[in-house]
Amino acid sequence: MRITWGTALETGIRSIDLQHEELIGMLNELDEAHGSGKSQTVLDDVLQRLGTYVAFHFATEEALIANLPRSERHAEEHLRQHGNFIEQLTMMRAQAKQDGPQTMSHLIDFLNEWLYEHILKTDRKLAALLHGQTAKGHEQGR
Ligand SMILES: [Fe+2]
Repeated sequence: MRITWGTALETGIRSIDLQHEELIGMLNELDEAHGSGKSQTVLDDVLQRLGTYVAFHFATEEALIANLPRSERHAEEHLRQHGNFIEQLTMMRAQAKQDGPQTMSHLIDFLNEWLYEHILKTDRKLAALLHGQTAKGHEQGR
């Protein structure tokens, strides 16, 4: 599966949407590099950048989550998913360095599937909570 950025994936939170678009661009770059037979060194370089960007992106979302009152259940689940993802990515990167192409295919599938699911379910839930919060803020401001 390969994700294409489009309105179907938008959360309506601009900072998050821009970062998701950037992330998907990196996934496509990785997929292309892998598909055209680039060396493990090149692939790992893309993965390195992707890993750094993911950490920055998760920090952005987690700061928004931390400012959201009465959302402990969402926060717990959302942070758990981010933590699992980082763990999985680190593990698979190390494995891909050793055995190359096969793990790389699994890793690319995993990244695409995880991101797609996570954006559609978890990040959209976060966006809904944030939108609710803004609506309440406007009411109180009246
Ligand atoms: Fe997220």
